[in-house]
Amino acid sequence: MVGVDGFTDSYDPSEKLVRAAHLTRSTATSLVTGDLVDLDLEPVMDTADVVFHLAGRAGVRPSFSIEGRYVHDNVTATERVVAACLNSGVRRIVYASSSSVYGDGDTPFREEATPSPISPYGRTKLQAERCCLDSTAAGLEAVALRYFTVYGPGQRPDMGLRIFAEAALSARPITLLGDGSQRRDFTFVDDVIAATVAAADAPVSGLAVNVGGGSSVSLLDVLELLRSLTAYDFEVDVQPFARGDVRVTAADLTRAATLLGFRAAVPFEVGFAREVAWVRDRFEGAEVRSA
Ligand SMILES: NC(=O)c1ccc[n+]([C@@H]2O[C@H](COP(=O)([O-])OP(=O)(O)OC[C@H]3O[C@@H](n4cnc5c(N)ncnc54)[C@H](O)[C@@H]3O)[C@@H](O)[C@H]2O)c1
Repeated sequence: MVGVDGFTDSYDPSEKLVRAAHLTRSTATSLVTGDLVDLDLEPVMDTADVVFHLAGRAGVRPSFSIEGRYVHDNVTATERVVAACLNSGVRRIVYASSSSVYGDGDTPFREEATPSPISPYGRTKLQAERCCLDSTAAGLEAVALRYFTVYGPGQRPDMGLRIFAEAALSARPITLLGDGSQRRDFTFVDDVIAATVAAADAPVSGLAVNVGGGSSVSLLDVLELLRSLTAYDFEVDVQPFARGDVRVTAADLTRAATLLGFRAAVPFEVGFAREVAWVRDRFEGAEVRSA
């Protein structure tokens, strides 16, 4: 297997490099470093049957101020990946799209609904998803998986659950953007991987498919669970809702079940306990290293 990453500045690249090193050490994966927009991709895809295209710039809030970076990493990069797939005879592309394409649409979100993203991030993911799905006309098989808030060990450092857990475990106040009534369909990382792998060979092409955890958890629920997992009674600093923050996400999983045989296996309470334990281990590892 070959992995490609540009180790962009979306967050501390050293965290990405550690993960990539773990991947190359523990699996038969080689790594190509570079920006998908500039790399000569055909040689990389030479013998590939399936391309899992997860590279991109994630995160809603920064997308309002650096939209150009989102267009580069999500739209332009995807156009190049799709072109290279077509030139290299790749059978299928599996694209990591996002629940953000739905915006504040009616819940549960169904793939047939007209997408209405409310952030540049959501718009660039939708454009990239369409680029992949449209390529079926040229003979490429394509599936766009709309991931719903992925969490668990290794979560991105800019995501709420990890920020909350890091604050609680270092006895800092938690900043809550909004009143905490926002609900999310959190999806454990192992479930996301299972759906992604299934999409490589599932009898589906040219469609978007939701990948959700089947949970409906408010941020206030998250804070309550965090108190019981950490035994800290942390302070909560309530700030206004963030721009682009949708109020509720919920996946209709009918298509995922029918076409991918997907069913989320990890309940939120279990998965979040695993993420909090991972954050605790990182902190303890850092203490050991600095001692
Ligand atoms: N994490 C979530 O909750 C979530 C939800 C919905 C969709 N997604 C999508 O899933 C994918 C993976 O998300 P993640 O949370 O692991 O994000 P991540 O930022 O940890 O991983 C994306 C990787 O893509 C690389 N990358 C970005 N632009 C690149 C470019 N032009 N060339 C080469 N490499 C580039 C980055 O360096 C990074 O390592 C993203 O496409 C994201 O939009 C994630």
